[in-house]
Amino acid sequence: MSQFERKDEQNHPRTKNPQFSQMVEQALSRRRFLSAAGAVSAAAFFSVSPLSRAIAAVTTGSSPLLGFSAVASSTADTVVVPRGYKAERLISWGDAMFANGVEFSEDGNNSAADQLRQFGDNNDGMSIFAVDDSTAILAVNNEYCNYELMFPHQGKQMALEDVKRAQAAHGVSVLTLEHTDSGWQFKKDGIYNRRIHANTPMLMSGPAKGHALLQTSADPKGKHILGTFNNCANGMTPWGTYLTCEENFNGYFGSTQHVEITPEQARYGIGSEDAGWQWHNFDERFDLAKHPNECNRFGWVVEIDPNDPTATPIKRSALGRFKHENAELVIASNGHVVVYLGDDERGEHIYRFVSRDKYNPNDPAANRNLLDDGTLYVARFNSANNDESNSDELSGTGEWIPLVFGKQGLTPENGFTSQAEVLIHARLAATQVGATTMDRPEWVAAHPTEPMVFCTLTNNKNRGVNENQPLNGPNPRSENHYGHIVRWQPSAGQHTDATFNWDLFLLAGNPTVHPDTPYAGSANINADNMFNSPDGIGFDKAGRLWIQTDGNYSNQGDFAGQGNNQMLCADPSTGEIKRFLTGPIACEITGLAFTPDQKTLFVGVQHPGEELAGSHFPYGGEHTPRSSVMMITRIDGGIIGT
Ligand code: FEO
Ligand code: CA
Ligand code: CA
Ligand code: CA
Repeated sequence: MSQFERKDEQNHPRTKNPQFSQMVEQALSRRRFLSAAGAVSAAAFFSVSPLSRAIAAVTTGSSPLLGFSAVASSTADTVVVPRGYKAERLISWGDAMFANGVEFSEDGNNSAADQLRQFGDNNDGMSIFAVDDSTAILAVNNEYCNYELMFPHQGKQMALEDVKRAQAAHGVSVLTLEHTDSGWQFKKDGIYNRRIHANTPMLMSGPAKGHALLQTSADPKGKHILGTFNNCANGMTPWGTYLTCEENFNGYFGSTQHVEITPEQARYGIGSEDAGWQWHNFDERFDLAKHPNECNRFGWVVEIDPNDPTATPIKRSALGRFKHENAELVIASNGHVVVYLGDDERGEHIYRFVSRDKYNPNDPAANRNLLDDGTLYVARFNSANNDESNSDELSGTGEWIPLVFGKQGLTPENGFTSQAEVLIHARLAATQVGATTMDRPEWVAAHPTEPMVFCTLTNNKNRGVNENQPLNGPNPRSENHYGHIVRWQPSAGQHTDATFNWDLFLLAGNPTVHPDTPYAGSANINADNMFNSPDGIGFDKAGRLWIQTDGNYSNQGDFAGQGNNQMLCADPSTGEIKRFLTGPIACEITGLAFTPDQKTLFVGVQHPGEELAGSHFPYGGEHTPRSSVMMITRIDGGIIGT
């Protein structure tokens, strides 16, 4: 959830197929996902690998991958982990990161200057970079802040200093970790420590660099950007850099006077009213009337070198501009770099970037700009109804459609005059080429050894309700309050393949409230592991799929029995799912990073106690709730999950 209401109602035309909708509802009612009945067809199209052939058989309690004892759902104001594990706090919002820094003030009166030297707020995606046996770097996104917790006036009497403090709480925190006798610890004043925030100088690179739409009075060349914010999830490269993804950037722009909103701005949710941040009232850079192009300089993936605190972050425009969730980077077996990307908005799309050049493991310097040249694609999922080989299964084929200027209608007649414009307005380009509308694509995760990719579709209240978002194959439930996970496999086993086969790995649901309806969820969801709104996902080295939730934590009605947000673990080959961790009150669980030995897992607890919900995590008592990175280990020092 975000501090402020999302501006995410989209209105772009789509075709409707009521007959297919009806068929899917029937298929859903039979709960055919991952069921024994579905096994034959799943095996038929997942013909690439032995692991894939095993998918579809749901067996509970039998997976050798899931070696821990599941935890119950919880409404407690704490982090609960399985028996034999412990969860310790690594760092929290406001902790000083530098020797001369000021610690967090419970009275809410830290200054902007203090925050610039403190851990940022609302930690989200993170990646770990090993330096040597006793040193590592943890790069952590700081997505946003909660005015109701940050300021004594709760955001009702904002001033310039408050806006500057909020800007300083956004961005990325780069942390030096040190291994001690008691495990990994944050090293205050460590040599890699760095704060990147909404005013940090950055460069734009790739095809959109310098384009007129990126030029401002402060930067007439359109390539020197100030800052990054709403840094949601992340990625990392094998050449040692961190990728941070700009998500709901639109909500930070507003106007002090009337402005005409262009169709392109509207598609990105940009309007004269901001989402409540009030930055444009005090910092004219965010005032659309004065600086109409500033908003085009956000919505990108930013590459950061965590090894060099002086390195300038680079916005990689070849990866497109939208509300980026994460950037899952894999090296295809043919050497090309492939980055899978979700655009988190109801009815938006899933993308894939393929580099022009190949990754060279022997020459790190040669890889530095691989993300500047390549092709951005968007996914079209063919539904079962137009793929006769898969008649009534919730599976089908799909294709990656290139977003290349001059092709597929990406032409001046349709509003595209260059590749830069295709990338700056990637959402409109995706619609032009016929991309499939999805139920809010959040994280994408690629299996470590098999060519198999998963994407969380967190929820979509508009599916089947809004006429522009009719039911379709991979988004088969109307009013999808629980969310689901779609999975695909490249047709010939290579991440650069033009086509893929897909199915649904799970549909979240509540079988105790909705027995035998589409809202019970798929066959691998039961009363002991149920959850809603899958969001963060990632694999460990052994191929366990870890799933984090950002859902409704009311524990009532449709969500009765599901408790606080949580983290689960799934066996991708059997479909079995077990709950691993539960978070404190009113938090989201988001962000995960394993140490290379797989013995320490860092997990993010984001916005406990949002909207004054009564959490005092992590310190309890009457303390201010604070987003925190937790460190999970086994008491016996073993590998997590086994
Ligand atoms: Fe920042 Fe879509 O989650
Ligand atoms: Ca969040
Ligand atoms: Ca998310
Ligand atoms: Ca979410």
